[in-house]
Order: sequence, then structure tokens, then C-alpha cells
Amino acid sequence: MIRHTDFFIRKENMTTYFTRLLAAMAMLFTLGLGSAQADAQLEIRDGKEVRHYSLSQLLANPALRQIEVAEDATYHKPMRYQAVPLSAVLPQAGEWEAAQVTALDGFNATLPGALFHGKAQPWLALEPESAKWPAIKAGSPATPGPFYLVWVNPEAAGVSFEQWPYQIAAISRAQPLATRFPQLLPKTGTAAQRGLQVFTSNCIVCHRISGAGDSAVGPDLNQPHNPVEYFQESYLRKLVRQPASVRSWPGSIMPGFTAEQLSDAQLDDLLAYLKQMAKQK
Ligand code: HEC
Repeated sequence: MIRHTDFFIRKENMTTYFTRLLAAMAMLFTLGLGSAQADAQLEIRDGKEVRHYSLSQLLANPALRQIEVAEDATYHKPMRYQAVPLSAVLPQAGEWEAAQVTALDGFNATLPGALFHGKAQPWLALEPESAKWPAIKAGSPATPGPFYLVWVNPEAAGVSFEQWPYQIAAISRAQPLATRFPQLLPKTGTAAQRGLQVFTSNCIVCHRISGAGDSAVGPDLNQPHNPVEYFQESYLRKLVRQPASVRSWPGSIMPGFTAEQLSDAQLDDLLAYLKQMAKQK
């Protein structure tokens, strides 16, 4: 999953980050704990019930396995991880309608609960201090760890690349997006209904519709104008597939969606959704 913070904030924060890190390390040494390593914590919230798991605790969990993912959404290649099944920290996730996954930088993604008890096989990949993963991109040491949600069989439930949240700080029980934001719902059209699913799985992590959504990385796609109003349809399709084929500049952020990630039929549904939403601002 790509986020604006990777592009803008992280670099600027790096100095602050290192200053803090050095201060924290100095403090540990002063306390005579020089050999101790910071043990990352994962928070699970189910209403009032809050649980914490530490990285070392999870690495010692009997359910820990070495798993392989065929196409990792962050690295875009096959990867191996030490991981526990998500059910090891979320045994009750089968009852959840949706989960809000919060990253260390506060970034939020909402995943439908149905994904968790389907066949997609969610695992929580764990990054050991002693075996760090490769950086997400050159020029920054950031990795998707220490807690990264990966899927062994994402195609089985249509899990998109935008549904692999990383640097997870907390996973909380939440309401589905369309319940929290009823203005996302198309008033009519079955293709548009399907398109809503495509939109919430792939686009809402960065774009809002009529103000609805948790992110503002990219422009609102309905207000003041919907792209179907000012793009010829063929160019809009090109833009979703490969943004740089329509407009190209070094600072662009939007990822392209290949036919494997978003089928032509799904793209049709997505356009039906955007067209419907343009009529109901
Ligand atoms: C990782 C964040 C991200 C995701 C995911 C994403 N976009 Fe974008 N999108 C952007 C950003 C940021 C821009 C502004 C241009 C840029 O910086 O690339 C943008 C621009 C656009 C534009 C052009 C708007 C204009 O007026 O110029 C359209 C249309 C669009 N996105 C549609 C989509 C659709 C449809 C999806 C889902 C299939 C999607 N985007 C997924 C971040 C994203």
C-alpha cells in the first residue's frame, strides 16, 4: 500500500526520528539496559476490550510459521515471512463487520470483516529486529514492519493491493465504510453497486467521494467535479491503468492498476459508480 506520508512526511521527519531514536537509546544505556531491544507492540481493540501483543511474544507463538506470498503488494515480488495467522491475535475477527487498521503514522485503512474469515488467508508478518526486511524504497530505511498484514491467497477473496496495510500499530473493530459514510452509496444501478466495492477496495485509501472517506492523499473524486465530467472516458480508463500515460511529472503519487489487479469488468463497474455519483452530489 502506498501512502503520501512515504513521499512527503517521512523524509522531513527523519532527522527528528533519529534524534528521538538516539535519545531513547541513550536512555536505555543509562538505565543499564543496553542489551535490551525495544519490543514493538500491536494493539487490538474490540469495543472496550483492548489487548496488546509484543513482537517478541508473537515471535514465540506456537502458531508461528514461515510463509510465502506469491506476489507481495509492497515489494511486487514473491516474499517469505515469519508470520502468525491473523486469528492468533484476532480470534473473534469472524464476527467483525469491518476492521480499521491504523498504521504507526496514523494512516487508516478499513477492511471488510468478510475478508478475514474467507479463503484469502490473512497472516500477520513479523519483522524480527535481527532480520530486518528490505526497505520499501531506496533512499529511506522504512520497511513494512514490524507488523504487516499479508495474504497467502488474496485472489480467493479479491483482496486488492491497497488492502495490505503495513507498519501496523492497531487493529480495531469498526463499522463498514458505507455505514459510516452513507453518502458513498449509489442510489441506483447494479453495476454502480459493484463499482462501490471496487472503489472501497482500491481507491478510498487515497480518494474521498463527496467528502466521504478517511484519506485526503488524492483529490475528492466527486466534488467539486467528478472526473467523468471532465475526462473523456478513454483517458479516464488510461489514467487508472497507468496515470503517467495521461499526465506525467516526477511528484505524481497515484499507482497504476494493471488488468490483474483490476479487471476490465471491474473498471467498467468503477466507471458506472463514478457516473452515478456524479448525478447525486
Ligand atoms: C496511493 C494513493 C492513490 C490510490 C490508491 C488511488 N489514487 Fe487516484 N490519485 C492519487 C493522487 C495523489 C492523485 C493526484 C495526482 C498524483 O499525485 O498522482 C490522483 C489522481 C487521480 C485522478 C485524476 C484526478 C484529476 O482531476 O486530475 C483520478 C481520476 C483518480 N486518481 C482516480 C483513482 C481511482 C479510480 C482509483 C482506484 C482505482 C485511484 N485513483 C487510486 C492517489 C491515489
